[in-house]
Amino acid sequence: MSKFYILANLKMNKSFDQSVKYLESLSKKVTNYDDEIILFPSNISLEYFSRNIGKFKLGIQDLDFRNEGQGTGSIAASQVKNLCDYSLIGHSERRQHFFENDEIISRKINISQKNNITPVLCVGEDLDTRNKGFSEVEKFISNQINKAISEETDLRNIMIAYEPIWAIGTGKSASIIDIEEVILIIKNCLEKISKQFIVPILYGGSVSEKNSEEFRKSKKINGILVGSASLDSEILSKIINYG
Ligand code: PGA
Repeated sequence: MSKFYILANLKMNKSFDQSVKYLESLSKKVTNYDDEIILFPSNISLEYFSRNIGKFKLGIQDLDFRNEGQGTGSIAASQVKNLCDYSLIGHSERRQHFFENDEIISRKINISQKNNITPVLCVGEDLDTRNKGFSEVEKFISNQINKAISEETDLRNIMIAYEPIWAIGTGKSASIIDIEEVILIIKNCLEKISKQFIVPILYGGSVSEKNSEEFRKSKKINGILVGSASLDSEILSKIINYG
């Protein structure tokens, strides 16, 4: 059986002290380490997490598109390459509120890989596109993939998360049928670049203690990206320990 990935995106939540308690409590509660569990805390706790990460892996929620220098407020992959295993790239909240375009996202993927940090590329359509039907969704997702990933991209060292914008933080997750359809779109795009590698494809958007089991059962979904439900260590540990 291939590895299942559980990613916890804590976003802009928890003070440093709260993060310390959270990691302590999660470490005590998790008993199943068969899956790859990747925590994405706020940057203020990144260094603490890296020293106390135990059997979890560590990720950063965003990276700058450059390698160092004039980027006030930004963090470069070169600064965290010894701390982090993964990075989230192109999350819809970054695309929306920080106006990240496809070119920036593609550069972030390359710089992350160059620093041995595996990027998790987030893609996903808005509600308008979803309501227009499958062929519009296909165009939207293919465009995001094709602009972010090029022949330069190392497909052995990347994951893709399908995160429809309308499902993020809304309590309304996508159906397994919808997700599997989009996974096929993503696979078709990747196969045009190279047939050689298998890229893990995850789902994110209102994953909870109640629905996580469903996603695990689908053979096509390689993992889940959990936002709101990951903020409570008790709930996240239940999602993890299920397996
Ligand atoms: P959510 O967030 O689980 O709160 O919907 C997921 C995400 O944005 O990564």
